[in-house]
Amino acid sequence: MSTATEEIRRALVGKNPLVYLHSFEEERALRMLESFSTKLYRGQQQLTTWSCVSGLSGALDDPEQIDPARAIQAVIAHPERGFFVFKDLTEFLNMPEVIRSLRDAYQAMGADDKFLFILSPELMLPENLKKEVFLVEMPPPGEKDFQRLISRFGKSYGNVELGPELDSELPVALKGLTLAEAQHTLHRIYRAQAQKRPAEEILREVLVEKANIVRKSGILEFVMPDANLDSIGGLDHLKDWLKRRQKLFTREAIAAGVPTPKGMLVMGVSGCGKSVAAKAVSALWNVPLFRLDMSLVYSGSFGSPEAAFHRALRTIESLAPGILWIDEIENSLGMEEGGADVNSQIFSAFLTWMQEKPPLIFVAATANRIEALPAEVIRKGRFDQIYFVDLPNDDERRTIFEIYLTRHGADLAEFDFDLLTVSTRGWNGAEIEQAVKAARVDAYSEDGVLDMDHLTANTASMVPLSTTMSGQIKKIRAWAVRRATPASKYGTAPRI
Ligand SMILES: Nc1ncnc2c1ncn2[C@@H]1O[C@H](COP(=O)(O)OP(=O)(O)OP(=O)(O)O)[C@@H](O)[C@H]1O
Ligand SMILES: [Mg+2]
Repeated sequence: MSTATEEIRRALVGKNPLVYLHSFEEERALRMLESFSTKLYRGQQQLTTWSCVSGLSGALDDPEQIDPARAIQAVIAHPERGFFVFKDLTEFLNMPEVIRSLRDAYQAMGADDKFLFILSPELMLPENLKKEVFLVEMPPPGEKDFQRLISRFGKSYGNVELGPELDSELPVALKGLTLAEAQHTLHRIYRAQAQKRPAEEILREVLVEKANIVRKSGILEFVMPDANLDSIGGLDHLKDWLKRRQKLFTREAIAAGVPTPKGMLVMGVSGCGKSVAAKAVSALWNVPLFRLDMSLVYSGSFGSPEAAFHRALRTIESLAPGILWIDEIENSLGMEEGGADVNSQIFSAFLTWMQEKPPLIFVAATANRIEALPAEVIRKGRFDQIYFVDLPNDDERRTIFEIYLTRHGADLAEFDFDLLTVSTRGWNGAEIEQAVKAARVDAYSEDGVLDMDHLTANTASMVPLSTTMSGQIKKIRAWAVRRATPASKYGTAPRI
């Protein structure tokens, strides 16, 4: 991908007089244009800017000129060459006289090294200007920019040292922020550092800032890393796979060029830990997790579903490194049983994006109705791994009981795990969690300590989902045996 600098150079060399510079960072973009203008005109021309409150200022000084169409006409009539940067013009691009003036500018200015820039954080190109306008996307600042910023901050804070871990991880963690956002975050970080807070806590500052950005985007939700691998029983193959990739999103691995995984698809039986596994990746890898809320994409509140989906993907790209969590992908991407899809545009946009997405975005997708997944999704190369999550077997149920009993403060020595595992054959993790919670409530209401009796009273009365849905589970298992890797180290041996 060419950089914004190269693109602007191409526009200037090609004498494209209308350039749309799409950037969230007005200051940074203006500085870049200033340096171009100095080079092109050998320091002889000042840059002129226009805003809807201060009119024209700079080489063409006319504060009265706040009407956008008149301001453009004044630029056309101005006898001197130069850069004319219009800041708030997107708001007026629905006015015929503004469109007309821009088309006039295109005709009049091409040959004489005069350039009109539309500088905006929003991309709103009217259909009837698309051919005339040269579009330049200014990508967010990269690691090098952040390194420079950090060393400037270090000096201004009296040479405070961040230490080797932060020195190496901070420039990566800041990616996705604008320079202005990064500056606010760095002020907080340097203060925290002066108070000798641990590096982990300091890196969390960056996560909080990212959470804010995502909240503003509306469609993505930042999920705080509250689950970890130790809170999941079973799924050992999946956990090993994740642990082996734990260091791949660190700066060292990225610099060494170690290939990063594209994503994993976790499918299988309901209530067995698919969603919680997706969440645990974030804590393990120390990479922020963003959930894509497809119901909001389809709601229409953010424009057409296609445009909203596109925007969500751009936002997540700009936040890399990150994990994009798409829960119940078969519903999210508009797939229906038998492979017929209700929204083929979004579905195919997603598949293309999976192929071309930037390497530092990992997709964690989950699916329940796997028969609804079209072959394209599970084709090799889209996801690195497709895991099948089955009902937990005896050993795994035992571990899940231990996890929840420990969490609820019970003394494990007081429980007969052999009896518990036999009496809960066919249960999923969610049901075990529920039984322990109910037992805890019973114990509390009796002013007692959570014990085996409380638990058996609850397990005896429960009918697990696998009994009522045994047909469906058989179907899922038959499907997955040939197409997916078992998440459990016990493979696909029958559980019930
Ligand atoms: N293997 C497990 N170990 C620990 N807890 C589990 C396990 N499986 C499920 N749970 C618990 O059960 C609840 C439901 O799990 P989760 O949401 O991950 O299931 P799921 O597979 O995504 O189900 P669904 O298909 O219904 O969305 C969570 O609170 C989770 O912590
Ligand atoms: Mg789930």
